[in-house]
Amino acid sequence: MLTIEDLALEGKVVFLRVDMNTPLEPKTGKLMELNRIQEATVSIRDLNKCRVVVGSHQGRVGRDDYIGMEQHAEALTQLLGKNIRFADDIFGPSAIKDIDSLKNGEVLLLDNLRFTAEENMEFSPEAASRTILVQKLYKHFDACVLDAFPTAHRAHPSIVGFSHLLPTCAGRLVSKELKSLNRILTVSKAPFTTVLGGAKVSDRLEAIDTLIANKRADKVLLCGLIANVFLKGSRKIEYDIGIDREDKMVDRATFLMADYPDTFELPIDVAVLRSEERVEIPVSELRNGDKVFDIGSKTIDHYSRIIRSSGTIFMSGPPGLFEDSRFGLGTESLLRAMASSFGTTIVSGGHLSAALQRFGIKEWIDLVSTAGGALVLFLGGKKLPLIVALEAYEKKMKQPN
Ligand code: 3PG
Repeated sequence: MLTIEDLALEGKVVFLRVDMNTPLEPKTGKLMELNRIQEATVSIRDLNKCRVVVGSHQGRVGRDDYIGMEQHAEALTQLLGKNIRFADDIFGPSAIKDIDSLKNGEVLLLDNLRFTAEENMEFSPEAASRTILVQKLYKHFDACVLDAFPTAHRAHPSIVGFSHLLPTCAGRLVSKELKSLNRILTVSKAPFTTVLGGAKVSDRLEAIDTLIANKRADKVLLCGLIANVFLKGSRKIEYDIGIDREDKMVDRATFLMADYPDTFELPIDVAVLRSEERVEIPVSELRNGDKVFDIGSKTIDHYSRIIRSSGTIFMSGPPGLFEDSRFGLGTESLLRAMASSFGTTIVSGGHLSAALQRFGIKEWIDLVSTAGGALVLFLGGKKLPLIVALEAYEKKMKQPN
């Protein structure tokens, strides 16, 4: 795929799609860490002879992390050591005025792209290029640089729409992530263990059988919300877990366990909140209304033993709500088991990167990718829309006129 040097971008208005989506501190609403923002600065610096319009999403509609990009603009200003303009708008008249008035070397950050309805929906590249978001903006841009590796699995307008209409190349993070992944996958050895946690169930469920079929998961250790789906699918808990399309997900988990009987490990015990304290109980004692915030100590021991005897370990999504110190034990223990194992270790996503930072063991992991759900699908062998968009433009360039 093409990179920044392949397009003559000097003096041009460049739309740079990055992913600065960052977990927030639950009590203060402040960005928990700046890793993805730091990674975005590399492409911004390398576009310093252009007029750069940066776009990113933050959070999901209806969740606590769905906020504007003011904090990200401040962080970028600090990290780059130069003033970053903030549009407080996406494609309205004031954003357009700001874009058109940019001078060479200036950087403008648009507000959270998911404040527009279309950026929450998936489209074909052709349909994405006809969305209002893309139609209002693309005439003000000369080129598009795609650097949102953690959002590579979303066919959103900002990922596949601009790239359908404008000269498009990969940003530095996309190149770095693909290079590191290719390198690490050539040295990785069996047995492969995948640890799945966190709250995003659907992406991970979608990828599990391709992960197993692609020999990337001889064992799958389940934690977090996805563990509850499998516990329900194996009838170890009987009540509603409270997630979207729950019945469908539970059925899928049941089928997966039938198809791959020796692959999945489910928690034996879990941590719940009782009178403001962490209390560990066996899964059989879970009752309707209990909220599971972490895996329990017996599960931690069992999973740690599997991790230590694996050739390659991949973790996506935190095993517990580590942001709350009462529920950090599972996440810290399994990450430490990975850090001290002899296997090749890959940790994926913003929350886990923040957790590694907090526990001081980031350097002990072989590859810490900025991507969460996108990486699970990538390892599962799925063609990601962002990569397809980059390859499509390169192919278009190579075609004889
Ligand atoms: C991520 O954190 O995985 C990416 O930013 C994509 O976010 P999403 O899962 O809300 O689309």
